[in-house]
Amino acid sequence: MTGHYPNTRLRRTRATGWSRSLHRETTLSASDLIWPLFVTSGKDAEEPIASLPGVSRWSVDGIAARAKEAVSLGIPVVALFPNTPAEKRSDDGGEATNPDNLMCQAIRAIKDACGDDLGVLTDVALDPYTSHGQDGLLDAAGYVTNDDTVAVLVDQALNQAEAGADIIAPSDMMDGRIGAIRRALEMGGHPNVQIMSYAAKFASAFYGPFRDAVGSGGLLKGDKKSYQMDPANGDEALREVEFDLAEGADSVMVKPGLAYLDIIYRVRERFGVPVFAYQVSGEYAMIEAAQSVGAGDRDALLMEKLLAFKRAGCSGILTYHAPVAARLLNG
Ligand code: PBG
Repeated sequence: MTGHYPNTRLRRTRATGWSRSLHRETTLSASDLIWPLFVTSGKDAEEPIASLPGVSRWSVDGIAARAKEAVSLGIPVVALFPNTPAEKRSDDGGEATNPDNLMCQAIRAIKDACGDDLGVLTDVALDPYTSHGQDGLLDAAGYVTNDDTVAVLVDQALNQAEAGADIIAPSDMMDGRIGAIRRALEMGGHPNVQIMSYAAKFASAFYGPFRDAVGSGGLLKGDKKSYQMDPANGDEALREVEFDLAEGADSVMVKPGLAYLDIIYRVRERFGVPVFAYQVSGEYAMIEAAQSVGAGDRDALLMEKLLAFKRAGCSGILTYHAPVAARLLNG
C-alpha cells in the first residue's frame, strides 16, 4: 500500500543522482553479456559486414584475439557462428560434423587462448552449412524434415562438445532435439556441457543481417515458418520452453528480444529458470541506423534496451553490442 500526495511524492527519490542510484531496481553489468562472433576462413582476415556496421567476421586468429578482449572486458561468454565457404556447403550440411570445420577450429583457438576464463557457446543448426540456407534437411517436397535433421544435429552438437564447447545452443527449432542432444552428451562423456536452448525462437524479419554474416541470406528460398514460431503466439512459446526444460535444457533463450519482452516475462514468471534474450542482428542494425541519421544516441538507446531485458526477467543478453556495452558499463 502506498501513501497519498502530498505525504507521498514519488518524485522525492528521483531528485538527485545518488538517490536514483540508491533506488534503482535493476542493474546491468558486463557479466550479463554474451558476445556473438562470426568466424571466417583465412589468416589475419577481417571482413566488415555491410548490414551490421561495426561488426566483422574474423579468421580464427582474430577470433582468439576477440576472446581475449572479452575476458579483459569482463564478458563471460562468446557465441560462435561460422561463415562457411560456398564450396564446403552442401544439401545435407555435412560440414557441420567435420571435426576440423571453422567452428571447431575457433573453439580450440579460444580455449587455447583463454581456458576457463571464458565460456564458449556454439550454435547448433544447419543453415551456415547448407547450400539451401535452411536449418535442416529437406525432403523431396522441400519440407524441412524433423527426425532426420535431429539425428544430424546430435552429431553436430557432439562435434562441438569434443572440440571444447561449454554451452550447446540449438537454434534450429526441431521437435525433440534437446532430449536427443542431452542423451548424446551424457553417453558421450560430456555430462557438464550445458544446453542453452533457443526455446522460443520466432520466424522473424529481424534476422536479415545475420544471414548476410553467415552467407546464407542469398541462398535461402522461402522462409522458416514451418519450424520457427509464429510471432502471434505466446502460449505456444511457453509450451516450447516447457518441453525443452523437460528434455534437459539448463537455460532457455527468447529470440528476437525487444519485440518479445512479454514472452521473457512470462517464461521467468512461470518457470523461474535462467532466461536469455537474443538482441538479434536487425535490432543491432536499428540502433546503428538511428545513430547514423541523428535520430538517437547509440549508447543511450543501447543501455535502455539492455536494461529492459534485465527488468523483464533476463539473466543475460546476447548482443553484438556487447563490447560497446561492456566499455560503457566498466566506465
Ligand atoms: C540460425 C540462426 C539465426 C540466428 C541465430 N542462429 C538465423 C535464422 O534463424 O535464420 C539469428 C541471429 C541474428 O539475427 O542476430 N539458425
